[in-house]
Amino acid sequence: MPNQEYYDLKRWYEETADERCEEMGAFFDRRISDYEEHMSAWREHYKRVAELLPHDIKTLLDLGCGTGLELDRIFERFPALRVTGIDLSETMTAELLKKHGGRDVEIILDDYFLHDFGENRFDAAVSVESLHHFTAEKKAGLFAKICRALKPNGVYIECDYIASTPEIEELAFSECMRRRKRDNIPEGEFIHFDTPLTLEHELGAMLAGGFASAELAENIDGTPIIIAKKGADRL
Ligand SMILES: C[S@@+](CC[C@H](N)C(=O)[O-])C[C@H]1O[C@@H](n2cnc3c(N)ncnc32)[C@H](O)[C@@H]1O
Repeated sequence: MPNQEYYDLKRWYEETADERCEEMGAFFDRRISDYEEHMSAWREHYKRVAELLPHDIKTLLDLGCGTGLELDRIFERFPALRVTGIDLSETMTAELLKKHGGRDVEIILDDYFLHDFGENRFDAAVSVESLHHFTAEKKAGLFAKICRALKPNGVYIECDYIASTPEIEELAFSECMRRRKRDNIPEGEFIHFDTPLTLEHELGAMLAGGFASAELAENIDGTPIIIAKKGADRL
C-alpha cells in the first residue's frame, strides 16, 4: 500500500505535468543567484560529511562539487587538502573558485560518467546532493570508477536524497521517462528531474561497483549519509 508521501508526490507531478524538461547544467546556471541560500537547509549535512572523513586524508575527489558547499566545511578541517572537483556547470564552479581559488583545488568541467579518474589516486571521495538523477545501473558503473580511483582502504562518502519506498522510486522514474519522451530528450542527455533510489538500491549499486562495504552512517532529517569502503586488498 503506497504511503502518504507517494500520493503527495503523485499530486505534485499532476500539478506540474506541463513543465518542460530542463537540461542539467542549464538548470543550475539559471539558479546560481540564490543557490547557496536554497541549500542552507543542508548545513548540518555538509558539516557531518566533513567530520566523517578519515583524519589523515591528503587527497579528495568531489563529484558534482557545485559551488563547493561541502568543501567550505571540509577545508575548515583540512586546510592543505588537495581536491579534484568535477562538475558540469561552469557557473557553479566559478563560485567555488571565488571562495577556494587560493587552495589546492583542480576543477574539471566534465560529466563524471565519462571522465576517467585514473587508478589509486585519492584517499577519499565525496558526493553531496548530486546523484539523485540516475539509474542504479548507471550509478554502479560510476561507483566502479570511484572505487578504482581510490587508494586501498579509501572511503567514499555520499549524502543525497533517497526514495523512502520502492513505489516512490518507480513513480519518479516513470514520470521522468514520460516527460523525456514528450520533450524528445535524446538518451544520454541529462535533465534535472529527481529520481532517487531507495537506500537498499543505492547501497546495492555501490557493492555492485566493487566497494567492499557500503553502510548507512547517519540519517539526518530523512537524508542519509552513506560510507562505502574500498577495502585493503583492492587495487
Ligand atoms: C545540487 S548541486 C550540488 C552541488 C554541491 N555538491 C552542493 O551540495 O552544494 C548538483 C551538482 O551536480 C552537478 N552534476 C549533475 N550531474 C552531473 C554529471 N553527470 N557530471 C558532473 N556534474 C554533475 C550539477 O552541475 C550541480 O552542480
